[in-house]
Amino acid sequence: MKKFIITIDGPAASGKEKIAKYISRRWKLSHLDSGILYRRLAQIFLINKIDTKDINQIKKNLVKINKISFRNSKKIRKQNISKLASKIAIHNCVRNFVNKLQYNFVKNNNKKQGFVIDGRDIGSVVFKKANLKLYIEVNPEIRAKRRYKQLIDSGEKSIYRKILKDIKLRDKQDKLRKHSPLVIPKGAHLINNNGTFENTTKQITKLLEKI
Ligand code: DC
Repeated sequence: MKKFIITIDGPAASGKEKIAKYISRRWKLSHLDSGILYRRLAQIFLINKIDTKDINQIKKNLVKINKISFRNSKKIRKQNISKLASKIAIHNCVRNFVNKLQYNFVKNNNKKQGFVIDGRDIGSVVFKKANLKLYIEVNPEIRAKRRYKQLIDSGEKSIYRKILKDIKLRDKQDKLRKHSPLVIPKGAHLINNNGTFENTTKQITKLLEKI
């Protein structure tokens, strides 16, 4: 049976997760945040002190992994993991590994009537035939301001200028990489998330009511 899928792509800190959670709750869809899978891999490599500059080390260690958590946590949201996740995501072997996890998640999950999946390449590569594709747009300065507030609220020390620099660096890494770079997927609807969340949800509701 063909499954109903909504994809959400967009740059770092553009609010994809919050938007996906909103859609998941309101339209009773199962949510998968593919960024968590890249972050979990980065965490495993960090814990096992894998030299991530060495592609052979990455490949050797990927085959050893037989289970990966899909759960979010404060630890995997830290800046060191964000940076490493973006770095390892350039490799095709890492992307294939994560994509397989996503396909299995959809294939084996029959509890909900459909899925909302967010990331950087979901509508452009992983689920090209999705029923609805969204691409989230937010200025880097607004993203940095929101991320700064998030980190301060969660008790982490943080400097706005450094966050803005990191966000711009991650944008560059995500958009310029050879394999599955961040692009606006063909047929995607642009969602402007610079304003209030209410404004964003209005744009989304309009689209979903048409389906
Ligand atoms: O969405 P996020 O910030 O949690 O993602 C962390 C990193 O993982 C991001 O900088 C790039 C990578 N990523 C990716 O390359 N493709 C995806 N579909 C999701 C995340």
